Amino acid sequence: QRPEDHVIVLFGATGDLARRKLLPGLFHLAKAGLLPAQYRIVGSAPARFALTDEEFRSHAEQAVRSFGRAEPSGESWQEFARRLSFGAADLGDAQPLLDAVRAAERAIGAGARRICHLAVPPDAFAEVITMLGDLGLAEGTRVIVEKPFGTDLASARALNATVHTVFDESQVFRIDHFLGKESVDNILALRFANGLFEPIWNRDHISHVQIDVPESIGIEGRAGFFEETGTYRDMIVTHLFQVLGIVAMEAPTSLSAGPLRAERDKVFDSLRPVDPAHVVRGQYEGYRGEPGVDPDSQTETFVALRAEVENWRWAGVPFYLRSGKSMAQRRQTVSLHFHQPPLRMFPELAGADGHEQRGNSLVIDFDDPGWVTARFLAKRPGPAMRLAEEGMTFRYADSFEQQTGLEAYERLLLDAMLGDQSPFTPAAAIERLWEVSADLLAAPPPVQPYAPGSWGPAAVEELVAPHHWELPDGR
Ligand code: BG6
Repeated sequence: QRPEDHVIVLFGATGDLARRKLLPGLFHLAKAGLLPAQYRIVGSAPARFALTDEEFRSHAEQAVRSFGRAEPSGESWQEFARRLSFGAADLGDAQPLLDAVRAAERAIGAGARRICHLAVPPDAFAEVITMLGDLGLAEGTRVIVEKPFGTDLASARALNATVHTVFDESQVFRIDHFLGKESVDNILALRFANGLFEPIWNRDHISHVQIDVPESIGIEGRAGFFEETGTYRDMIVTHLFQVLGIVAMEAPTSLSAGPLRAERDKVFDSLRPVDPAHVVRGQYEGYRGEPGVDPDSQTETFVALRAEVENWRWAGVPFYLRSGKSMAQRRQTVSLHFHQPPLRMFPELAGADGHEQRGNSLVIDFDDPGWVTARFLAKRPGPAMRLAEEGMTFRYADSFEQQTGLEAYERLLLDAMLGDQSPFTPAAAIERLWEVSADLLAAPPPVQPYAPGSWGPAAVEELVAPHHWELPDGR
């Protein structure tokens, strides 16, 4: 399905996200024939970063060359590039932006929709929203707002209030790109299109769940952003909680935005406030020496915590969440760990360290293209009854001839242009996630150092005991 004709306004067009994801993503959508028949892309940034249209085109070309999956050359590139223009905007003077938007609208003709993507630092969201209202650009416009949306409950409420003075909630698309990942979407298919998994997807069969997103990269020069944000706000309150929402939700009555979001939101309503006693904050050794980082910084680059969903399905089942920078591996996994069998007929199952057996789990790797493995114990060949951990795996990369070739951001940009709010987060849900974070934000435990390339501070093992972390697998 192709969206209606659009003027796409990209705030923060000279920034990191636009360069790495949005400009290449828009070009990929164009190449895939998924942008509207008629569209224009207007880049914007404060006047001190102003570019001419020509400079913006070469900026976009560089971005696609460095971060895209398609070469910015040939006719497809020329077609795309001629639709790019630039209009600077400051709070006091946004005339160049207004002129560029009007010119783009004239070029397409009457009836074009407008979508604005706020790829700007979080502290600039309110300013840009207000500016859109003042310029008369809000009516009929859809607005994509980046994360983190607020830094705590009060700021998220204030930001929502500002948003709602200018936009109706139906115009607002709060983005979390983890919800655009193919394999996160696949969790819905796995659960609700099969009779195999859903009957055991509850406290009667599952002892605990892990959502584990270690990253091997450091802060990659983003000290300014990271010092303000930290891993909890950057990864947990946004991405990992959103994945938890999908894993834990009840079956929606349909897959349309209303019922789907309602069920996800109910999970957030059922979340018990995060208890600081069940949180490990870490900071990788060397972080304080990174350019732009306070030498006494208390910002965490790692968080592991225990979350609890207090409802009929999940009462008593801990959800362990972990994410951090400069860790041993980049992985994005959900693992569901099943109860032990009631009778121990296989003596070696207890494991040498007294921990519970491995295997006996369902692991979803959602780093696109992603895969799913059912892990179980099987008898080793031979006269004795000895067991080994084996598994059955489905891999996206091996299974479908036709891959969409769309990255998470690309799918979400498309959904927003189509007006589908299902993978976006409503105001109340965001506020709820800050509400459950309030105790932790008020009294965060001290950061503990961890070696770069490790799995975090030693205390993460105690957090999940007597269970194990699923990662690294194959221990
Ligand atoms: C971003 C965070 O939202 O997500 C980054 O700001 C993080 O810190 C990134 O590295 C991870 O996303 P991806 O696309 O690598 O799965």
